[in-house]
Amino acid sequence: MSTIHISAAPGDFADVVLMPGDPLRARYIAERFLEQPREVTAVRNMLGFTGQYQGQRVSVMGHGMGIPSISIYATELIRHYGVRVLIRVGSCGGLRPEVDLKDVIVALAAGTDSRVNRHRFLDHDFPAVADFELARRAMELAARRGQPVRAGSVFSSDLFYMPDVARLHETLVRMGMLAIEMEVAGLYGVAAEQGARALALLAVADHLPTGRSLSSTERERSFDEMIGLALELGAAEAAAVAPR
Ligand code: HPA
Repeated sequence: MSTIHISAAPGDFADVVLMPGDPLRARYIAERFLEQPREVTAVRNMLGFTGQYQGQRVSVMGHGMGIPSISIYATELIRHYGVRVLIRVGSCGGLRPEVDLKDVIVALAAGTDSRVNRHRFLDHDFPAVADFELARRAMELAARRGQPVRAGSVFSSDLFYMPDVARLHETLVRMGMLAIEMEVAGLYGVAAEQGARALALLAVADHLPTGRSLSSTERERSFDEMIGLALELGAAEAAAVAPR
């Protein structure tokens, strides 16, 4: 049975789904990195694919922009397709001085100006945290691959075009946020609510305080390296997840 936003058949998705924001990136990942990729959904052009990576079944699907969009897809994947592990692979704007262009951030936790987790949590502060084992495995794999990564907190904003952005950035830097993006706090809230495990890996494409940014070629190369890490992590998780 398909859902409102996903037309895949039951069993079409693997236990582990990588999620970039852009559905064309999902297609790129599937066609470039997966063996025997098969398109499993295309409602609203939010493309999803399932294939094999390192002998394991892995899916990749776009999640769109912002917390409302990722929340719809993540919820339906977990609730209706039995997905157990969601790995967001996205870009972010670096904030802290120690974060550099091309760095990959392992988002251990996310603050947000969104109220979605308050809706879920009796208006209390919800700790939007990554799954610890996923984060640990990502750090170990990155070390083994010789890939520099930084683990820490990020901030998920509802607005891309934000009023009084200087004040916000100053506060985020002071409070230790490595980067800003628009989905992680929502993803971690959905994972908690629906009983799945989630992690976000974020490539630093812009450095906001200094205004530096990557060229499109550098952006692609840095994204590919992060995808390599995410797929290896996804395959390791797929191998570890007990059969349904
Ligand atoms: N703000 C929000 N999300 C982002 C940004 C930003 O500056 N850069 C990349 N994703």
